[in-house]
Amino acid sequence: MILARTSLQCRECKKEYETAFKYVCDDCFGPLDVKYDFPTLTKETFANREQTYWRYFELLPIENKSNIVSIGAGMTPLTKADNLGKKLGLNNLYIKNDSVNPTFSFKDRPAGVAISKAKEFGLTAVGCASTGNLASATAAHAARAGLPCHVFAPSNIEMAKIAQALSYGANYIAVDGTYDDANRIAAQIGDSKGIGIVNINMRSHYVEGSKTFSYEVAEQLDWQVPDQLIIPVGSGAMLNAICKGFEELQTVSLLDDVSNMHMIAAQPHGCAPIVDAFKKNSKEVIPVENPDTVAKSLAIGDPGDGRYVLKRLQQYNGFAEECNDQEILDAILLLAKTEGIFTEPAGGVSISILQKMVEQGKIDKNDKVVCYVTGNGLKATESIMQVLPQPTIYKPNINEISAVVQ
Ligand SMILES: Cc1ncc(COP(=O)(O)O)c(C=O)c1O
Ligand SMILES: [Zn+2]
Repeated sequence: MILARTSLQCRECKKEYETAFKYVCDDCFGPLDVKYDFPTLTKETFANREQTYWRYFELLPIENKSNIVSIGAGMTPLTKADNLGKKLGLNNLYIKNDSVNPTFSFKDRPAGVAISKAKEFGLTAVGCASTGNLASATAAHAARAGLPCHVFAPSNIEMAKIAQALSYGANYIAVDGTYDDANRIAAQIGDSKGIGIVNINMRSHYVEGSKTFSYEVAEQLDWQVPDQLIIPVGSGAMLNAICKGFEELQTVSLLDDVSNMHMIAAQPHGCAPIVDAFKKNSKEVIPVENPDTVAKSLAIGDPGDGRYVLKRLQQYNGFAEECNDQEILDAILLLAKTEGIFTEPAGGVSISILQKMVEQGKIDKNDKVVCYVTGNGLKATESIMQVLPQPTIYKPNINEISAVVQ
């Protein structure tokens, strides 16, 4: 008999289960998290491995390497952002640039782990509920795995995200409603048809992929803990997973004490239920019924991990802040013009909140700051064009054009 490396544990009542295709606790309906029997690990363990997040195999919930479904995601740049840092008065600002993943968002991390696990469970179809990015990440990994893929997403997501998911061969179910409507339908169909919906009935394994955001940042900082982390928040799964990732590195002695990190949750004004709860000092998140924001990927009115994000902010000296559409679009251009990184509105939310935290004196100029940029600007050009000048069209006449090139 092969002993499994992982089990599942209820986040609420701590009851343990053998790893299986299940995601809520039988006793209290709490979410199940993956728990590991970690081997001994050292910095050298990872030193010469492949440049994808699968280099952290021992910290991921796949038993057999043959089940890995990889499209080469991860090990994205951690760029020391000296130009932007100078503008903001920060000496140690880093951008974790996940806009350059294979499907151009961080969602390749959770989707790749969930689809690998779906393969390990022997599932015959997969899918997701999505605000856009997860649709393409799931569809691409499903294509690689040779599995049919059903994506449930609002009909008004950006065209580039729809084009991507369809190109990878997904069945795109365009729901005339909000993300929460799409999510509810995906949950019911997933359960009744035995489809592995990566962010719902595969959620315990899905979130493990986002932990690699912590492993990479820690390794890229030569195994040091950042002081400040700015994270764009929709459902809150990523923020929670990043905390879990740093804690696990402490457990395996790859990092010293992580308790002094500051977690900063960034949300757009048109959908900021976690920020609202944080500012009211409330433990409960009141859903936003009709999100309205240029940051469509963060338009999750009823965040599944909202309550846990509030706990994490308390645990890790955190803050939550929001910014409006204009501030998001301005921040996209600021990042592009200072660092040559083109992000979609979710990344603009991170940058805008970074600015606000500096203005509010919440970040010291010498803090080691990591700002997460989670998606690519090419996915949302219709929104970004709103704040760009329409190009003037010139006749191919050298004198006319010469006059405008000074
Ligand atoms: C680009 C991008 N950033 C951030 C998020 C938020 O992630 P989470 O829902 O895990 O909070 C999303 C979610 O779709 C996203 O697409
Ligand atoms: Zn429980």
